[in-house]
Amino acid sequence: MEAIPKIGLGTFGLTGADGLAALGSAIDLGYRHLDTAQTYGTEENVGKAVACSGLNRGEFFVTTKVTAANFGRLAESIDDSLKALGLDHVDLALIHWPAPHDTPPIRAYIGELARVRDTGRARLIGVSNFTRRHVDEAIAEIGEGALATNQFEQHVFLQNRALDAHCRERGIPPTAYMPLAGGRVDGDPVLTAIARKHRSSESQVALAYLLARGSIVIPKSATPERQKANMAAGGIVLDEADMHGLAGLDRGERHIDPSWGPNWD
Ligand SMILES: NC(=O)c1ccc[n+]([C@@H]2O[C@H](COP(=O)([O-])OP(=O)(O)OC[C@H]3O[C@@H](n4cnc5c(N)ncnc54)[C@H](OP(=O)(O)O)[C@@H]3O)[C@@H](O)[C@H]2O)c1
Repeated sequence: MEAIPKIGLGTFGLTGADGLAALGSAIDLGYRHLDTAQTYGTEENVGKAVACSGLNRGEFFVTTKVTAANFGRLAESIDDSLKALGLDHVDLALIHWPAPHDTPPIRAYIGELARVRDTGRARLIGVSNFTRRHVDEAIAEIGEGALATNQFEQHVFLQNRALDAHCRERGIPPTAYMPLAGGRVDGDPVLTAIARKHRSSESQVALAYLLARGSIVIPKSATPERQKANMAAGGIVLDEADMHGLAGLDRGERHIDPSWGPNWD
């Protein structure tokens, strides 16, 4: 299966004219992987930024996510997304969350996502916020090799090792959302020391760690300097001692935990 670009731009909050400007600067800085969702209100801006870039559509990797409210009309909702984006296909379509309380169950909607891929409206498909059980149920329904990623919260303070390992065992690369813990990594002493050693920042080290572990990362920044720094994190080479120190930062600190969400691993 074709690889997802390792560093993408999260677009949550990048709405309005400021959001469009932030997308434009990210594209100028080399971002090609853009992560949106039906619920973010950023599909239009992503589409406009792609159109205004002057680059070929084929250079971009655009992800959107189907919200549970659309499970009864999943294919039509992808058409709505494509209209908002001004594109004829997305590169990756994800189920944003498993349905609250598994109602409806995964088997009721995951096949429809596979059909969206088969009709060419999404080149790849995947899931988000799926637990190990959800991943296994999805694979049982649409087969091994069908899911291009599981996107879930993952950062130095919530490393999500059980889910991460399970996804890898099943051939599914994890995508780390909120890879900067929502902008909370500055000032951590372990990160600060490793950042000094590599003449970089805490945020860059936090991203470099996830990349070194094999995750795809989608940090969001509206600030060109930070966008540039986040992109450059891919060039930081951490040694064994760094990796060991960063592994020790895991403290199960989850930030996205809605009451209707799944029972996490
Ligand atoms: N699938 C899901 O359910 C789900 C859930 C949450 C998020 N996501 C996706 O993941 C993306 C990233 O998550 P997120 O936006 O919540 O959090 P994040 O990327 O971990 O953190 C974003 C915050 O960090 C700041 N920041 C960015 N780069 C920085 C740097 N180099 N130094 C210091 N601060 C920096 C940003 O501020 P500035 O913008 O001011 O620079 C912003 O406040 C989202 O945008 C969305 O696309 C998916």
